[in-house]
Amino acid sequence: MPQHFLHLADVPEGTLYQLLDMAQRLKRNRKREQVAEGKSIGLLFFNASLRTRTSMDIAAYELGAHALTLDVGKGVWPLEWQDSVIMDGIAAEHIRDAIPVLSRYFHALGVRVFPRFKNYEEDSTDWAIHRIAELSSIPVINLESAFDHPCQALGDLMTIREHVVIPRKKKFVLTWAYHPRALPMSVPNAALIAAARSGMDVVVARPEGFELDERVMEQARSFCERLGSRLEETSNRTEAFEGAHVIYAKSWASRLIYESVDEEARLREMYRDWIVTMDLMKLTDKAIFMHCLPIRRGVVVEEAVLESPFARHIEQAENRLHVQKALLRWIWGDR
Ligand code: CP
Repeated sequence: MPQHFLHLADVPEGTLYQLLDMAQRLKRNRKREQVAEGKSIGLLFFNASLRTRTSMDIAAYELGAHALTLDVGKGVWPLEWQDSVIMDGIAAEHIRDAIPVLSRYFHALGVRVFPRFKNYEEDSTDWAIHRIAELSSIPVINLESAFDHPCQALGDLMTIREHVVIPRKKKFVLTWAYHPRALPMSVPNAALIAAARSGMDVVVARPEGFELDERVMEQARSFCERLGSRLEETSNRTEAFEGAHVIYAKSWASRLIYESVDEEARLREMYRDWIVTMDLMKLTDKAIFMHCLPIRRGVVVEEAVLESPFARHIEQAENRLHVQKALLRWIWGDR
């Protein structure tokens, strides 16, 4: 079985800290090495990206490897997912053929595949990324799936470790924010697991109707319990922000979207005031402000917050490069 990297929750404690320590060393001494000379990685994108595609490409380059980005449907054939189907539609190739072929070319495959928002069971079990992993004979790296974004989580954990002195029992707040579009639950799920694994007390602040999946909450709760910290949920932002050490903002769709796209949009519109403001940040204990990016200024967060000393979103994005370099080295056996 190839060594896939699909979920941060599945990474053993020892490996996790080995990866973070290696990323920190690589950040301190950034240079081009030849440790992965002759290796190549395919980056299969079903959806758009700025940071992930760039940082993975540069990560491979700085290790002496080669990365090739493949945009499905744009230069790469549209792909069919459904088994035993008559392929007389748009899709020219089946993933059952495409993934084994790519497995013959590359030494690892990064995949970004967002939710379809049609079937909650499929999305919440991350069916698509798992299907690709099953079909692949090389390691698959999850570059954001329907329900997880483990590379983001790894970078987030690195950022927390850099800025929060002794994270254990410090207060991490994951706050829902308004967004004009219904967004996946992948990043909030991943941030929740990263925070829980950091040993911080975690608060999820969200309006009614925007609860995260109970299975992900339970996973986070069990990491918190193991580390002696707590996980709470609230719809009171003032209480949530008070005394916080990390504010992590993110929008995500209500689960209502699986029943009615219009109803979900109407519910989301009711919470346009869920924007991270300077006034809210002033309630914190000099918290750092985190966001995975891209971020809509004046919608998710006041511009002043992003231009203030609270903001760490640019370093957070930079850390994606360092953790992914560490991850590629680990996947390719340089441990
Ligand atoms: N945070 C993140 O994954 O950014 P991109 O969507 O631009 O890759």
